[in-house]
Amino acid sequence: MKRLYIETVGCQMNMLDSEMVVASLRKHGYELTDDAQLADVCLYNTCSVRQHAEDKTYSSLGRMKRCKQANPRKVVGVMGCMAQKDQRLIFERAPYVDLIVGPGQLQQIPELIANIQAGAEPQVAVSMGRRDGAVDEIKRSHETFDPLRDPAMRPTPFQAYLRIQIGCDKFCTYCIVPMTRGPEQGRDPQQILSEARTLAEQGCKEIILLGQTVNSYRHTSAAGVDTRLSGLLRQLHEVDGIERLKFVTNYPKDMTLELLETVRDLPKCSPYLHVPAQSGSNAVLQRMKRGYTVEDYREMMERIHATLPDAAVSSDFIVGFCGETDDDFEQTMQLVRDCRFKNSFIFKYSVRPGTKASEQLPDDVPTEVKQARNNELLALQNRISAEDNQDFIGREVSVLVEGPSKAAQKRGDEGPVLQLTGRTHCDRIVVFDGNLRQVGNTLPVVVYDASSHTLFGSVVTYEAGPGPLLAFNQGGR
Ligand code: SAH
Ligand code: SF4
Ligand code: F3S
Repeated sequence: MKRLYIETVGCQMNMLDSEMVVASLRKHGYELTDDAQLADVCLYNTCSVRQHAEDKTYSSLGRMKRCKQANPRKVVGVMGCMAQKDQRLIFERAPYVDLIVGPGQLQQIPELIANIQAGAEPQVAVSMGRRDGAVDEIKRSHETFDPLRDPAMRPTPFQAYLRIQIGCDKFCTYCIVPMTRGPEQGRDPQQILSEARTLAEQGCKEIILLGQTVNSYRHTSAAGVDTRLSGLLRQLHEVDGIERLKFVTNYPKDMTLELLETVRDLPKCSPYLHVPAQSGSNAVLQRMKRGYTVEDYREMMERIHATLPDAAVSSDFIVGFCGETDDDFEQTMQLVRDCRFKNSFIFKYSVRPGTKASEQLPDDVPTEVKQARNNELLALQNRISAEDNQDFIGREVSVLVEGPSKAAQKRGDEGPVLQLTGRTHCDRIVVFDGNLRQVGNTLPVVVYDASSHTLFGSVVTYEAGPGPLLAFNQGGR
């Protein structure tokens, strides 16, 4: 047995890519280890979305230096978005790296590792750029690679990511993703369905469909059949064993009424929508080239609430983008006050060399101002989340049980009875006392308390035994 260590930063796409790399290396006789020192191969799956993500990888690589000196046969590889973006720089900063592989070439990893072990020079496999056949190359890579799955690498054995879209064509001016992940392509619905069936056979109950702008999903078959996300959801809804379907990340402009009605009509579709607004100021949105106005976004929110009254909506915001004034920021605060998101991810603007903003717009908001705005927006969002979670007190929710809660894990609690955690259909975290046997089940839980991030509850038990619980596996929200 050869030992593999893998460290992943970045978004869910990267988690999924790591799952597939592990699955493919297992086929070549590797087993996973938590110990980078003992591993024969150490892989770093990287993210370039903000400077902080890159710094994290460089400090991990720095720790690897001595390890590699002590054992020159160890293979050190960098994969993912930073590998695609910065090949030369990585070799300059960490000359002991053996392997650099972009997100579109991951299926080559076993072969490249074998080459290095056979004494070859450092190996590099990245896309040529957005033109020059890159589309076909990346697509072929995902066709052979994506069906490889590894349950041990999933968030839980009952929840899996499933890629339906590759790349991004939106080119928001601050964002590096279109450069690292290449052009947008919708995967073939037949492949997606067959992968969903495999996941269901492996015991998976919740599938989270992934795409950078997942609701822009579109695929046209050779015969001219056009499939959109709503059609795909209807097909996936038929897969036996799957109880919940979620999809992230949504692009505000493509949140059509047809899609919202599909979510309303299909009980397995979670009434949870992550739709990043990024800013509440039209001037900022325009400089970001997001392609919508704040009025468009507010209209979309009205459409969501009119169609899905119980929907939970979450968002992303960038604070301190180029030229953002106090007044622009106040408009973002107002948007958050009005939309009352379930939660928001808030980021300080980080210049990404190679993007339009880095070339054309000065990064002129001081760090302290970015930090202050970040704190202020986060405090507002947390207050709203805490207030809205109070509405759940006394209500019964349907929870897919994921496992021991963070607190129980930290305390090292052993079962079978301990504090468990799970999620409602609309993606709210619920903790409650339960039995390890309940992990993987969908249970009715009554909420008795709530904080900004968590609902606290107790499992509802019925005297007649488990019979009535089955009703909650369908549609209960
Ligand atoms: N495709 C998704 C998410 C892409 S990256 C979408 O379009 O919403 C995830 C989040 O990181 C973005 O929503 C944005 O809020 C943030 N982000 C992207 N580039 C950034 C940058 N240069 N600086 C700070 N935050 C950034
Ligand atoms: Fe980046 Fe914009 Fe594409 Fe999202 S939609 S990945 S923010 S370019
Ligand atoms: Fe990061 Fe690449 Fe995802 S830059 S956010 S890992 S697509």
